[in-house]
Amino acid sequence: MTDIKELLLSRIRDVADYPEPGVMFKDITPLLADPAAFTALTDALAELTVRHGATKIVGLEARGFILGAPAAVRAGVGFIPVRKAGKLPGATLGQAYDLEYGSAEIEVHAEDLSAGDRVMVIDDVLATGGTAEASLQLIRRAGAQVAGVAVLMELSFLPGRRRLETALAGAPLEALITV
Ligand code: PRP
Ligand code: MG
Repeated sequence: MTDIKELLLSRIRDVADYPEPGVMFKDITPLLADPAAFTALTDALAELTVRHGATKIVGLEARGFILGAPAAVRAGVGFIPVRKAGKLPGATLGQAYDLEYGSAEIEVHAEDLSAGDRVMVIDDVLATGGTAEASLQLIRRAGAQVAGVAVLMELSFLPGRRRLETALAGAPLEALITV
């Protein structure tokens, strides 16, 4: 494993049985509190953003905001928040998606995305892929192009990568760490 992967992995805390029994929660707060690790993560996400020719970063509420915003500044591109439904004041595009139990909806300000944009989606964790898939559908419905998805961590025991295949349509899914 490369140095950066080891550094990032060493700063992610496993919390058993959170938020419910049987779930191992991946807590990134130790990583955020370590300036060397957070800087390395920001640089890596910014490098992927530039390498894949993105003109905008979409960050997925909430933890995707923490990772995506500094990466956008570092990469010199705009940052667009994709929020849980009901939080944005302007005209929005919304996308519902299925959860294990029930459903959820995310929204973006329609004016933030346009046909000329190439968008990199950034989030902390790819689990089932439902959140990232819905964000890709929003980006395409807005007429923008998908540059890719970049996550700190992919949970490879879940089918997130497979779920994203259609929505990615050949664009890359980049995971800095796979567990
Ligand atoms: C978590 C995580 C990802 C998403 C991954 O967000 O931060 O955004 O779940 O799951 P999926 O691949 O199955 O969609 P969550 O909304 O739970 O919490 P947050 O608001 O703290 O980011
Ligand atoms: Mg999240």
